[in-house]
Amino acid sequence: MFRERNPMRGITWDDYLDLPSGEKGKYCNCGSNPFHVLRSQQFNRPMLERLCEITTKTRRIGKTRGGMNFLQDLLSEKRAMIYFVQPSTRTFLSFAAATQMVGMRHENVRDTTTSSEIKGESPEDTVRTFSSYFDLIIMRHPTGGFAERIAWLLSNTERPVPVINAGSGKDQHPTQALLDIYTLQRSFENRGGIDGKKVAFVGDLLRGRTVRSLATTLSLYEGMKLYFVAPEPLQIGPDILDALKEAGTDYEVTYDFEKIIPELDAIYMTRIQDEWDTSEESRAIDTEPYHFKEKHLSLLRPDAVIMHPLPRRKEIAVEVDEDPRAVYWRQVRNGMWVRAALMILIFERDGEIDRYYHDLTR
Ligand code: NCD
Repeated sequence: MFRERNPMRGITWDDYLDLPSGEKGKYCNCGSNPFHVLRSQQFNRPMLERLCEITTKTRRIGKTRGGMNFLQDLLSEKRAMIYFVQPSTRTFLSFAAATQMVGMRHENVRDTTTSSEIKGESPEDTVRTFSSYFDLIIMRHPTGGFAERIAWLLSNTERPVPVINAGSGKDQHPTQALLDIYTLQRSFENRGGIDGKKVAFVGDLLRGRTVRSLATTLSLYEGMKLYFVAPEPLQIGPDILDALKEAGTDYEVTYDFEKIIPELDAIYMTRIQDEWDTSEESRAIDTEPYHFKEKHLSLLRPDAVIMHPLPRRKEIAVEVDEDPRAVYWRQVRNGMWVRAALMILIFERDGEIDRYYHDLTR
């Protein structure tokens, strides 16, 4: 007996892997709502706009006690497993808070030494066990593509529950891209939205999954110019540049950070991802020219924004935090609401949000 909502059913794993990126989305989505959230490329422009709309409505509904009671009931029959086998503070807590906002209970496994993986169970069997008890699996894993593999495996079981990729290796971090899009959209809502903006990615662009996910998502917007600013060994990979070329998105690979600062509408700073070093090779790289310092504030447009997925090290001076253009703490807060909205869309409760919001603002 298979549930009706199971978009990955009916394709072999090898056939799925062979699909061009643009065609994988239909195996992740159900109609115009996401079912699994596996890759940032599964979202098209109308889906992003709907997600931002549901996020804002949910955020506003959550401001009153009555609204919060309504939200708490919305998914109260569902339970989520948060399976994080890579370090995390923000994303873990953000998902935990988001499930609570919409009334879902959650459990977590964060350490494989406390699960049966220590007895030799495969991660695949571990996740299949979760699907027996829970209605949603939110997972962070060091292996690129692992969340997709799990979603596909579950689609051939009697409990093909939705899977959210909360970070997979160096590869993808789709929910971070979504909260980044929401932050950009809010930041530019009085400037015609995201279209036509100049955005620079700075730092470890080779191994930073947030950059990879967001850059491809931004290619859905018109008239964008993306800058990739990094020391040579950490520059963006050719796969992302090829995807941008194919989408017709203008970009520039550059090494001179200070020169471009005055041009920019948004700067997306990232840390060096040295956990992926094989022999501490990042230590030899001078990353200091790629730090945003207090003196750079005077070069920046008055209506630009500085973003960071966090955690940061020294790439943004703490003095910058007080500047109204520094939006990285707002980004963190947005993440919780975007993730709550995602769960609402996955379980198709967005119509209930529309109705409640309509009555609230009537
Ligand atoms: C990022 C990640 O895990 O990829 N953190 C996050 O989820 N906000 C960025 C990072 O670790 O540098």
